[in-house]
Amino acid sequence: MRVLGIETSCDETGVAVYDTKQGIIGQNIYSQVDLHAKYGGVVPELASRDHIQKTLPLIHQTIADSELKIDEIDGIAYTSGPGLTPALMVGATLGRALAWSLDVPAIAVHHMEAHLLATLLAPSKPQLPFIALLVSGGHTMLVKVSDFGDYEILGESLDDAAGEAFDKTAKLLGLGYPGGPEIAHLAQKGSPGVFTFPRPMTDRPGLDFSFSGLKTAVQTAVNAVGELDVQTRANIALALEDAIVSTLFIKCRRALETHGIYQLVLAGGVAANQSLRARMKRLDASVHYPPISLCTDNGAMIAYAGHERLRRGLSTGLAVDCRARWSIEEIE
Ligand code: KG4
Ligand code: ZN
Repeated sequence: MRVLGIETSCDETGVAVYDTKQGIIGQNIYSQVDLHAKYGGVVPELASRDHIQKTLPLIHQTIADSELKIDEIDGIAYTSGPGLTPALMVGATLGRALAWSLDVPAIAVHHMEAHLLATLLAPSKPQLPFIALLVSGGHTMLVKVSDFGDYEILGESLDDAAGEAFDKTAKLLGLGYPGGPEIAHLAQKGSPGVFTFPRPMTDRPGLDFSFSGLKTAVQTAVNAVGELDVQTRANIALALEDAIVSTLFIKCRRALETHGIYQLVLAGGVAANQSLRARMKRLDASVHYPPISLCTDNGAMIAYAGHERLRRGLSTGLAVDCRARWSIEEIE
């Protein structure tokens, strides 16, 4: 069985084909980073217009790269949500229409479930049940995964996501978008201990997060130093990365201990962060994550999630299924 996956929930156009026997046999990604860079964040209308331009050519290219003909595809998976509605609508409409024209099932995929399942594309796979830390630009949550489709949110961010904290503070430091990779790169040159930022909500019980205060803390530090030379920027970047990584580490350790589960999955864009991966190795748990290229948004995770649904007999009707907000606990 072969499933074509289409991802257009934000600023990446991703397309891939997953084959039951061979795994991912073709994948392409087009990043809109340059388009949004001057705005310091994603502009939904521009994202949508660009997806309209790029998606169909990328599907054509991916089918060719996979050495397939379009009628050898058994199902079309598209990201249905959560995400930016104008962006989601492009992949959802194209995917649903393509499935109809080919007379194959369409599968609406939950973006965060796809991030989570991307870990199963890595050579070392977690065993069920496991705890997943999903950290992206839009979401930060700890999820107990008891089975495929059986997800319980143990805690989540009450305001900004971890990726958003990276992106917003990068903007304050005059760095480019997306901020996570920029901060991580700059942090390598930082001196530890020059700045210290809070580890929000770690002194309270529970597994929720709050990252919006970090940008205020960084703004205060920036105002206090006056001129921002390269070394000061690097010192702030290191302190910020350390605050986010430490907070995530403390909450993951608490989740594992509270639930007596010692399998942890890191997924979503921020899971590409090397300091986060290194820190999590200190946990008394077996830690798994997708390959770096499958941490940020991509079509492969959508093709794989769609394949996993289709092989369980799950598919979606003719209506285009598009949801800006959609809890991972509410996946049918
Ligand atoms: O999962 P993703 O590609 O898109 C969403 O679903 O939001 O995540 C994007 C987020 C951005 O906030 C970006 O700054 C962050 O992931 N990110 C990183 C790194 N690479 C991407 N954050 C920290 N370190 C990185 N290496
Ligand atoms: Zn994502």
